[in-house]
Amino acid sequence: MTSFQLKDGAWQVEELPLADIATRFGTPTYVYSRSALENALAEYQQTLAAHPAGKDGLVCFSIKSNSNLAILNLFARMGAGFDIVSGDELQRALAAGADASKIVFSGVGKSASEMHQALEADIFCFNVESAPELERLNEIAVAMGKKAPISLRVNPNVDPKTHPYISTGLKEAKFGVPHDRARALYRRATSLPGITVTGIDCHIGSQLLDPSPFTEALERLLGLIDDLAADGIALGHLDLGGGLGINYRETDRQPTVQEYLNPILDRVNGRNLKIVVEPGRRLVGNTAVLLSRIEYLKEGEGKNFCIIDAAMNDLMRPALYEAWHEIRPVAARSAAAKTYDVVGPICESGDFLGLQRPLAVEAGDLLAISSAGAYGMAMSSNYNTRPRAAEVLVDGTEAHLIRRRETVAELYANEQLLPK
Ligand code: LLP
Repeated sequence: MTSFQLKDGAWQVEELPLADIATRFGTPTYVYSRSALENALAEYQQTLAAHPAGKDGLVCFSIKSNSNLAILNLFARMGAGFDIVSGDELQRALAAGADASKIVFSGVGKSASEMHQALEADIFCFNVESAPELERLNEIAVAMGKKAPISLRVNPNVDPKTHPYISTGLKEAKFGVPHDRARALYRRATSLPGITVTGIDCHIGSQLLDPSPFTEALERLLGLIDDLAADGIALGHLDLGGGLGINYRETDRQPTVQEYLNPILDRVNGRNLKIVVEPGRRLVGNTAVLLSRIEYLKEGEGKNFCIIDAAMNDLMRPALYEAWHEIRPVAARSAAAKTYDVVGPICESGDFLGLQRPLAVEAGDLLAISSAGAYGMAMSSNYNTRPRAAEVLVDGTEAHLIRRRETVAELYANEQLLPK
């Protein structure tokens, strides 16, 4: 089944017309396809399972890209692990039914209580990003009478050729341990009583449409693995982070998961390393649209605005990264298209979802903003006192509300007036 399809001139998700979803749940609403979610994870799992070096592999969904419990639960049921970056994400993952022994914990700023929480849960691995973090983790583990399994996040200094805000593997980045210092830090780690060295990891950036930087990073890590072996330090797993890109524009050509993973698996074959990956965007990005209704069509000075009821608080990516999302009318009209800046009601010039888009639309029509499943709802905010959108997951002909729309009372529920 195709997850998003045109039927009789109108877009539907699986077997359900988007217009029906708007009528039932209102707008703006994130609408996910269950089959798209399952297919995206299955593509990784099947690619790993089909290769001798990937049989023991583990896919850890990066929760930061989309943390809805129903989605995490769907992936957990399929056997996925999770990549977390906070103790609160750990709690969310466990609430969604995650298996703690498949969780990796990344991030440069892990607090003592987060370490405590993750040690208590017996997670698979701490992806340690600095020397002081290693020392702190050791102290906490010793105090708890435990050993913390660790991997060092090595910064391979590889250019992922993506947007600078989402490049993480260059030596200027705040992430990871510099490649030249990793060997000494591993030696230190093996001398610490509260630490067990289990692996190595990296994450070079996000939205990579060319897989070659991944293999470049892999070479740098393999060199280090050999040096460590010479020091008597044997690693059990290699975690290559996330970062595989998706098609945002109709002209984008995303690599297949096989094109991405097979060269990696071929290269590590025979080394007895468990392969771990942390995809976020690729598992959810193209599984959802943001459904929105047009409030007004406004003619400006030499420019037309299509003012919709979704805004930068719902989907920040265009404003923050000048990211491109396809915007399609839910029902086609035969009228000639005009060029519009598609904007929200927020009082900022940066509040746009798409600029200079040809659209044949009228006020009241529905628009579907594509590729909205990753870093969409997850990065949304309440700016301008806008309750966050609803999230709906479609399964065949059925729609399930997986997060109800916020109410304005919830938005100020934690605030208090002064006593006098
Ligand atoms: N692992 C680590 C350690 C990460 O930092 C990230 C993403 C991932 C995995 C997942 O990467 P993915 O497969 O999703 O590319 N908000 C930005 C993306 C920020 C990515 C941050 N780290 C956006 O909307 O494009």
